[in-house]
Amino acid sequence: MEKKIRKYKRIINKIYYLLFVENFNGKLKFDFPKDFNRVDLVDYLIKKNDYKEYLEIGCDDDQLFSRVNIKNKIGVDPVSGGNIRKTSDEFFLKNNKKFDIIFIDGLHTYSQVKKDILNSVNCLHRDGIILVHDCLPDNLGKQAIPRYEMHWSGDVWKAIVDLRQNKDLNIFTCELDQGIGIIKKEENTEVLKIEKSINKLKFKDYFKNYKSYLRVISLEEFKKKF
Ligand SMILES: C[S@@+](CC[C@H](N)C(=O)[O-])C[C@H]1O[C@@H](n2cnc3c(N)ncnc32)[C@H](O)[C@@H]1O
Repeated sequence: MEKKIRKYKRIINKIYYLLFVENFNGKLKFDFPKDFNRVDLVDYLIKKNDYKEYLEIGCDDDQLFSRVNIKNKIGVDPVSGGNIRKTSDEFFLKNNKKFDIIFIDGLHTYSQVKKDILNSVNCLHRDGIILVHDCLPDNLGKQAIPRYEMHWSGDVWKAIVDLRQNKDLNIFTCELDQGIGIIKKEENTEVLKIEKSINKLKFKDYFKNYKSYLRVISLEEFKKKF
């Protein structure tokens, strides 16, 4: 019964989205490497920088969390996985620890991801790094809110585009594992300027401009820089 209700809700969400939010058929083709994913990326950064403190927001079944080899790790999720049963907001409210590497993969909505990023910036060690999963959806449905597709990234991409305008955050997006935002707390070497306000941005804008909006780099470029 619950499954049926969820199915009908998704159909209603889809009709609503296509009628009142946006209807656009363009599809992007990403070349995500098959032999290097988020687990490899986190491992690469930990080894290269001798990081000791890891935080993951949104752990699900610990697909990533259980495979992170590091001295200390905290995983925050209100439902499953990790080792702290809280929402990210509840966690950050009381947290006074600092981290070297933070992986954000919780609630995939623009405003929540933006909040998670800014809270993470406040508890990041000086040479630390923030990673944000699911920044590169390839079609309209994958990023629609309310959600109507099974494979869903949400509009995480909008949080990246928004913060690319911040002069104190240097942000790239690596073309890897559904798109991984890379954020360092340092001078922005390429401040993004966009005419529209974030709330007016559509998938069509992203479709046309994602490379510059999100400052997309390949895995090879990433390895040269970080
Ligand atoms: C996509 S899954 C995480 C997947 C995992 N990080 C991985 O690498 O496979 C998203 C998770 O975020 C959790 N979540 C939802 N809302 C959240 C919130 N407000 N704060 C933290 N986690 C949240 C969900 O319970 C779910 O387990």
